[in-house]
Amino acid sequence: MKLAKRIDNLPPYLFAEIDKRVAEKRAQGVDVISLGIGDPVEPTPKHIIDKLAEQAENAVNHRYPSYFGMPDFRRSIAGWYKKRFNVDLNPDTEVLPLIGSKEGIAHINFAVLDAGDTTLIADPGYPVYNTGAILAGVNPVHVPLVEENDFLPDLDAIDAGTREAAKMLMLNYPNNPTSAIAGDDFFKDLIGWGAKNQVIIAHDNPYSEITFDGYVAPSFLQYPGAKEVGIEFNSLSKTYNMTGWRIGWACGNAKVIEALGRVKTNIDSGIFNAIQHAGIEALEGPQDIIKEMCDIYQKRRDLVMDALGKLGLEAREPKATIYVWVKVPGGYTSASFATHVLDSVGVIVSPGNAYGPSGEGYVRICLSVKDDRLVEALDRIRTLV
Ligand SMILES: Cc1ncc(COP(=O)(O)O)c(C=O)c1O
Repeated sequence: MKLAKRIDNLPPYLFAEIDKRVAEKRAQGVDVISLGIGDPVEPTPKHIIDKLAEQAENAVNHRYPSYFGMPDFRRSIAGWYKKRFNVDLNPDTEVLPLIGSKEGIAHINFAVLDAGDTTLIADPGYPVYNTGAILAGVNPVHVPLVEENDFLPDLDAIDAGTREAAKMLMLNYPNNPTSAIAGDDFFKDLIGWGAKNQVIIAHDNPYSEITFDGYVAPSFLQYPGAKEVGIEFNSLSKTYNMTGWRIGWACGNAKVIEALGRVKTNIDSGIFNAIQHAGIEALEGPQDIIKEMCDIYQKRRDLVMDALGKLGLEAREPKATIYVWVKVPGGYTSASFATHVLDSVGVIVSPGNAYGPSGEGYVRICLSVKDDRLVEALDRIRTLV
């Protein structure tokens, strides 16, 4: 049997690998605590679940959903962007519901790039930036995010050849995995750079609502000219504890949205309508969950920062996201430290190099674990360092 060559170039999905290692360790009787994947442990709010239950009873919703998402859900997304970011979106042409933003992040490559084209991806970055490009036969060029530049890409450092070849730049702030945030000037420069170099900007914003200490994250689309150069992905996953529901969207430039929609309509048939109704409930119903979750994550962030400080491990204090990006102690690589922590004390942390070569020297600690387990994980790590 022969498989596609592209499969040889496709690394196994990081979190699927981590899941396997957890299962192996658990089978050996180890009480593993995973600080690996960013997946909220708190439940989806009840009013959203109730809406799903109600709509699941309605036979109309059992049929194929509308390919481009329910008009009401698109309107709801546009309404949320207006209320939250003061961004005007045409729900018919500038909003496209996705079966989780992950699929859109992969499919966008098929919509705007041809095989052999060049795309720019943040490094370190969400693994799908890289693997989505590989699947589409596109050449992903890594744009380093380094601490000296506050984990922002140095756009001027991209050489002329790469800049001219590139058709898209994929990045995200508040950032996974570094938890860095980007200010107004960065976004304005980014838009100017994209327009000047004819590079589509794909900004990925699933952590826009998970912020601390009074920080409010922007949308890329709120800056002048953004819609002319790009799109933004967002998702209900982290904002409303809905990772398992698979519901998100892309919005912004109508031409890119139309192209992504055309790819998707030929591949999938959209999100279960009952889930889209629940999505409307999430966006338009009570919003208490957001503040509650931010308070929970902020408290956990403080626990982690305190423990790291006592251990002499370096990390910048996150203002957003559910991640802490930690420098590994001297003598370790990302992978050797992550393996050491797992093998010695049964705690999973993600090795930074799995997010791209510039992630080497770091591990990512995720805050989506119950407080008592987090405290225990930190106590266990304390015995090590
Ligand atoms: C930066 C980033 N983008 C996109 C996603 C995918 O989110 P979704 O659940 O909407 O597919 C994640 C999930 O962890 C993420 O961290």
